[in-house]
Amino acid sequence: VDDPAANLKREAGEQAALLVEGGMVVGLGTGSTAAFVIAALARRHQEGLRFTAIATSERSAKQARDLGIELSDFGHHDAIDLTIDGADEIERGSLNLIKGLGGALLREKIVAAASRKLVIIADERKMVRHLGEHTAVPVEVTPFGWESTARQLGVLGARVSARHDRVGTLFVTDGGNMILDCNFGVIDDPAGLERRIGEIVGVIESGLFIQRASLVLVAGADGVARYER
Ligand code: A5P
Repeated sequence: VDDPAANLKREAGEQAALLVEGGMVVGLGTGSTAAFVIAALARRHQEGLRFTAIATSERSAKQARDLGIELSDFGHHDAIDLTIDGADEIERGSLNLIKGLGGALLREKIVAAASRKLVIIADERKMVRHLGEHTAVPVEVTPFGWESTARQLGVLGARVSARHDRVGTLFVTDGGNMILDCNFGVIDDPAGLERRIGEIVGVIESGLFIQRASLVLVAGADGVARYER
């Protein structure tokens, strides 16, 4: 498929891949931007850089494995030195994020929480003044009783729709769960909303990533801009 932002995503991805040093445990993100990081890391691996990786999805694990990157898990490592991942929306001032359009938010959040440093890469279309401007908040929920969980999310003010895949059946995450896309409109208090969503029984995690990104690399027409928290 033709992605007009592919060159920008590649540029941000290649810069981020340069942050990986020998011996690191690296978290591999998910999505079309993160795929450029995995490709760039595979090239560095071929050139002799040694590192271990933990993937945030089966898709990214497969890409990494196919390219010869060694994968590990949390049974073997207490922490991750550096994770590089994409995002769906990045709030300019706070660097808070919405993630999960690719459906990998739960593993992404577990990996982010275990990472000393989370680097987010994106093209400039992902930058917003306020989270929720363009993107609904993906919420991963347990399939049992999801209609009831969806109603509770509605009480918080969301327009809720159950995510379907391309052939029209309910989308299933790597963990065997469902995604409810919750449109709250512009979000005034992302931290409070993350907390309230998390209190609903049946919710596993939301795609709100609050104060987790340490560095954001945004590729635009004038090159790659850095935002640090
Ligand atoms: C995956 O669940 C998401 O959090 C991705 O990080 C996000 O969808 C970014 O994907 P693209 O790089 O394809 O926009």
